[in-house]
Amino acid sequence: SEEGDYDLAELAKRRGFFLQSAGAYGGVSGFYTFGPQGASLKDNIENVWRERFTVREGNMEIDAPTVMPEPVFEASGHLDGFDDMLVECPECGESHRADHIVEDNTDYEEAEGLGPERVGEIIAEYELVCPNCGTGLAGQAIEDFNLMFETNIGPGSSSPGYLRPETAQGIFVEFPQLKEYARNQLPFGVTQIGRAYRNEISPRKSLLRVREFTQAELELFVDPEDGEGPDLASVADVVAPFYGVDQQEQDGGEPLELPVGEAHERGLVADPWIAYYLGVAAEWYESIGVDMDRFRFRQHLSGERAHYAADCWDAEAEVDGDWIELAGFAYRSDYDLSKHDEYSDEDYTVFRQYDEPVTVEQPTVDPDMSYLGPEFGGAAGDVADALEDLAAEDPDAFRDAAEDPEGDGTVTVEVGGDSHEVPVEQTGFAVEEVTESGEHILPHVVEPSLGIDRALYTVLDHCYREDEIDGEERTFLELPAAVAPTTVGVFPLMDRDGLGERAREVAADLRERGLSVAYDDSGAIGRRYRRQDEVGTPFCVTVDYATIGEARDEDEGEPGTVTVRERDTTAQRRLPIDELPETLEALRDG
Ligand code: GAP
Repeated sequence: SEEGDYDLAELAKRRGFFLQSAGAYGGVSGFYTFGPQGASLKDNIENVWRERFTVREGNMEIDAPTVMPEPVFEASGHLDGFDDMLVECPECGESHRADHIVEDNTDYEEAEGLGPERVGEIIAEYELVCPNCGTGLAGQAIEDFNLMFETNIGPGSSSPGYLRPETAQGIFVEFPQLKEYARNQLPFGVTQIGRAYRNEISPRKSLLRVREFTQAELELFVDPEDGEGPDLASVADVVAPFYGVDQQEQDGGEPLELPVGEAHERGLVADPWIAYYLGVAAEWYESIGVDMDRFRFRQHLSGERAHYAADCWDAEAEVDGDWIELAGFAYRSDYDLSKHDEYSDEDYTVFRQYDEPVTVEQPTVDPDMSYLGPEFGGAAGDVADALEDLAAEDPDAFRDAAEDPEGDGTVTVEVGGDSHEVPVEQTGFAVEEVTESGEHILPHVVEPSLGIDRALYTVLDHCYREDEIDGEERTFLELPAAVAPTTVGVFPLMDRDGLGERAREVAADLRERGLSVAYDDSGAIGRRYRRQDEVGTPFCVTVDYATIGEARDEDEGEPGTVTVRERDTTAQRRLPIDELPETLEALRDG
């Protein structure tokens, strides 16, 4: 945090945001339970993501299983390629990520792209040691470790399955059906929010690198030749820092602070869809409480990109002095759909209608079966089929043979190990003109992929505040009302003389209106304000004697009014009780 030194993980546990799971059994690294505040904050972040990336964009949301059978990941490339570099300490036996050891102890910032061999050399060169016990790691083998959790589907081991390492594959694999829902019209987007699993070698930094996490992903299917593209104008003025490859490669290069439209025009963010979603995301991150002075978009260096990505930008936030990845925006081209098209029996293409039908020449053969019949015996049908294949595969060669009277005038057809010479004029070779209304293409994919846990952690860190109220230190979370776990705290000034009953009625009314309310009548009122400040509740309402028409004098307030106290300024004002729901709703919705 920018504020004083504090331990976010400790604070998160104490205030009910998140804690390491199964602590009673010693806990296990990389798994967290969200407490009451955290679960609510996470829900709210997911809901505002859904509003922005699904509803407002007109995309469709699906919900796929977290376990999928092996062939899915054979096709997607995860079985073979979804590895991290592992180095094991020869002394204590602890496993580490070799690239992290290099990044933490040398000037290499993105060691992942260097490959195991080079990372091994750097470990030896710098005489790097085991972070656990200090033993030298030079000369230790660097192994590829696959990050997927494996399981068996049903009894026995004949049907392996994997916990999905990204929600995306659940979308890609269903594309043949999804394109029908979209009536085969590109572009269309499919979103999903759900858990993903990675057996990280060394989970670290609390929620930032865990083994079970939530992704919010959008797979946008586009026609790569569609000139129309997104409505870039709607986000063109959003300003963000762009840390392109060129800026990163300059000595001391700084990100360029630019409007999205200009970043695209200058060719810094070449793909218009990626540029569009960087703009949408920058606005969205700001709306959930990420500090835009500690935020940037960084382009992947060529060695850093995932196995499927042609270009990729990350959204990054500064947390505890490090830049962490919040989200990836990848141009996945037709990588995934072409793989599933190849590996499965389904059709992953979309029919692209031409503006005008086009006439194309199409070679055909119509073998003279009467000729083939007696000479070729039972093989006649097979020879005819083979001729058709030949004509389709190499029509030019076929045409040459047909048009060259000096040539030997025959076409060689192999059937079942036998070679047949078929005179060209007997093949019935012809070129017909046919009219085509379109063609089948594999759509390309643009993918904004956001990590919800990292967003939540960053928001907590960036919204943490310390100040002083009446000589007393206060800490509070300046969470935007749209994501705050609780919208309003409702307190009776004291729990007597009917104040408690009235306050409970007010709380019930507000809950009925769909507001998230915390009722609290224990302890001094100042203490109750602090409790809500600490979990980021933007408003508190106090029911006092004026509310129930029993104020001793007018200074205490008009009958039927309550005080509304605002978290950030601590300013208070009185409001007629019947204006309360609308006022709070308006304040919450900004
Ligand atoms: N479908 C693309 C994809 O999965 P990724 O960059 O590997 O891309 C996307 O992951 C986002 O998921 C990351 O930007 C990050 O926010 C989150 N994420 C990935 N691994 C994570 C982990 N071990 N712990 C927490 N969040 C993680």
